[in-house]
Amino acid sequence: MSRRPLIAGNWKMFGRRRDLAEISALKASLGVLQGVDIVICPPSTLLAAAATIAAPEILVGGQDCRVGIDGAFTGDISASMLADAGASWCIVGHSERRQGYGETSVLVAGKAKAAMDAGLIPIICVGETLEERKAGQTVEVVSRQIRESLPPGAPATTVIAYEPVWAIGTGLTPTLAEIAEIHAAARQALPVDMRVLYGGSVKPGNAAEIFHVEGVDGALVGGASLKAADFAAIILAHPASARR
Ligand code: 13P
Repeated sequence: MSRRPLIAGNWKMFGRRRDLAEISALKASLGVLQGVDIVICPPSTLLAAAATIAAPEILVGGQDCRVGIDGAFTGDISASMLADAGASWCIVGHSERRQGYGETSVLVAGKAKAAMDAGLIPIICVGETLEERKAGQTVEVVSRQIRESLPPGAPATTVIAYEPVWAIGTGLTPTLAEIAEIHAAARQALPVDMRVLYGGSVKPGNAAEIFHVEGVDGALVGGASLKAADFAAIILAHPASARR
């Protein structure tokens, strides 16, 4: 079965209530799209409101969750809480958490399992640093992160996002041939066929060429997902974005 394209926006720690208007504007400019799944991951403070505004064409997700279930963990958020707020997805293992908070792939696998147990689909992020790339370790690092971050028995609905750390928020991207090579290697590391997204400086100007790369099932978009016009242009650049 062919893999349905997915384009997800990660708002990171940006967004106030006034920015919910971007979701309404996005819906208005896209109309009803067939052929692609669209997800927005706003900050947790906006999740419930975003879920209401986005439905049914656009789904929402969290950006992180804690391992396990509810408990006395001040400041944390459980996958079950995200689901209760209207999320159906959850990003885990973003490099900003791996790097900024020392999150290991073992921890990321625990978070992905917590997301799955709460009925959320995890988007598991992997990607090499610039040093690892320069050392020729990209395939090794990405393959290992995938193997170690996927919980045992993860279903085919699980999503991997390949995000080279050095491409995030920098305006830099790998060449299309490099993206194809890493996506092929990532697929080799998967226990079952899953969607593999590309992330890192995806913009309206480069989305179409990235979407045409063999093995790229969509994108995880940071900065360019914050503005409806840019995110809509990226989504419409996908060849599967047929308006109804
Ligand atoms: P940018 O699109 O801003 O480079 O961010 C990518 C990213 O980290 C998405 O999770």
